[in-house]
Amino acid sequence: MKRLAVLTSGGDAPGMNACIRAIVRAGLQKGLEIMGFVRGYQGVVAGDFRLLDSRSVSNILQRGGTILHTARCPDFQTEEGLQRGAKTLSQVQVDALLVIGGDGSFRGAHELSRFWKGQIIGLPGTIDNDLYGTDFTIGFDTAVMTALESIDKIRDTADAHERFFLVEVMGRHSGFIALEVGVTGGAEEILVPEVPVDLPAICERLCAGKRRGKASSIIVVAEGAYEGGAYAVAEELRKLSGCDYRVCVLGHIQRGGSPSANDRLLASKLGVYAVDEALRGATGVMAGQINAELLLTPLPDTWGKRKAVDASLARIARILAT
Ligand code: ADP
Ligand code: F6P
Repeated sequence: MKRLAVLTSGGDAPGMNACIRAIVRAGLQKGLEIMGFVRGYQGVVAGDFRLLDSRSVSNILQRGGTILHTARCPDFQTEEGLQRGAKTLSQVQVDALLVIGGDGSFRGAHELSRFWKGQIIGLPGTIDNDLYGTDFTIGFDTAVMTALESIDKIRDTADAHERFFLVEVMGRHSGFIALEVGVTGGAEEILVPEVPVDLPAICERLCAGKRRGKASSIIVVAEGAYEGGAYAVAEELRKLSGCDYRVCVLGHIQRGGSPSANDRLLASKLGVYAVDEALRGATGVMAGQINAELLLTPLPDTWGKRKAVDASLARIARILAT
């Protein structure tokens, strides 16, 4: 193997840069030429890439975002787009493609393998933590910390005004962020897509808390937990109780910022591991870490098998918030 390419795709996540840096420097040490496709699969389709040397990844370990930029590329979801991507990769003589992204990006990588016979390895880069084959994805730890800082601030004002607050966190299809942020932020209730939402029961518990003298209550809502998100939940609770509910949607701030030590560590380990495995001939797999052990998982399993959230965390939050 001579030439290795890397790209970042889908929603960005803190630690993607640390992962690029690890791949570039590990690859260079093995005598490989490293190229970076710009804007995910868009760069592959358009043949937009640049050669990466050791200095091109200097001083990025601590930076959020991705120096290669990321994009959503609808073209890549067509046979024609995939074929154009495969042609680029063959023309520029890429031997192995390393894709840092989430489940959508891995589906794209898997589809690409129908048209391109080079090696493909995925690296889990998404704040959602919703990939089977790794305990944590790169970016999740930072996103939780970012959301937690906000919740602590919201608690101050909620307490001062003796209010109910709904805080919406990211997670269109999964509640990993909501559950961790909820417990560590002392939330009274946590709503996630994986568990049916019982609003009358929630309303009753919140009102009971008020009667017991609780000054404030925070309800963490994963964006996919309820149709219409936290605003819709607030409206329903208002109708049920007649009380007022303030809403704060944390949104994309959860995707930004300097990666935590855990995310930098995971990104660095997985980057070096993926290069080693590429040199051993691995393909069609994602590099992940389970119980501190690095391992490879077939790409289709990363989205086909479900990594279960620990739904008991919602109960733990309720017990601890009494
Ligand atoms: P993430 O990787 O964060 O889950 P997306 O779901 O937006 O992000 O996917 C990123 C990109 O991966 C898409 O814009 C598209 O280019 C590509 N992709 C997703 N699903 C497929 C698919 N079934 N076939 C081909 N490409 C896909
Ligand atoms: O990165 C994953 C994610 O954060 C989801 O939780 C969220 O629904 C989505 O990205 C939103 O991303 P965008 O606004 O870029 O489409």
